[in-house]
Amino acid sequence: MKIYKPKNLEDFKFIAKLWSETKNNKFMLTRMITAQDAKDRIKNKNNFTYIVEVDGKRVGNLNLRKTDENKVGRLGIIIDYKSQGKGYGKEAMGLLEEEAKKLGIKKLKLEVFVNNKVAVNLYKKIGFKETGWMIVMEKKI
Ligand SMILES: CC(C)(COP(=O)(O)OP(=O)(O)OC[C@H]1O[C@@H](n2cnc3c(N)ncnc32)[C@H](O)[C@@H]1OP(=O)(O)O)[C@@H](O)C(=O)NCCC(=O)NCCS
Repeated sequence: MKIYKPKNLEDFKFIAKLWSETKNNKFMLTRMITAQDAKDRIKNKNNFTYIVEVDGKRVGNLNLRKTDENKVGRLGIIIDYKSQGKGYGKEAMGLLEEEAKKLGIKKLKLEVFVNNKVAVNLYKKIGFKETGWMIVMEKKI
């Protein structure tokens, strides 16, 4: 496995497809992004995005955002549903940690829905601890 920063339009299209695929995004707050959205996101110098590649094939996307909080990074991960459950998520998180360290980040934070069992299990397995609760609300207007 390797992770790399997107280099061309195909990479950004892949990111957009991953995030917009309903089988991937049922537990996500962000849905339906375009390749342009993915490109725009990294115009901010604190945002980093990486393609996860296995045997020459793109399988996932990692996002990292350096926050104003001292040395804290916020992360997001998606592995394509066709490639889930093969250990790629865990391996990719390890590689992201290494990238974060290179950026001077000392602590990683994330939000995850409690019913996203796979993600919660993954994060606990690699050492993340629950530090708070959040209520997600919505209102039709
Ligand atoms: C969450 C996600 C990144 C995990 O990646 P993955 O490649 O499927 O996970 P892995 O195969 O690396 O498994 C890592 C750990 O997750 C847990 N896990 C994996 N599949 C699981 C399942 N079906 N049920 C419960 N736990 C599971 C296990 O703890 C596993 O470790 P183990 O195999 O050593 O026991 C991936 O499923 C995904 O992209 N989901 C959709 C998007 C998403 O929800 N992202 C996270 C938002 S916060």
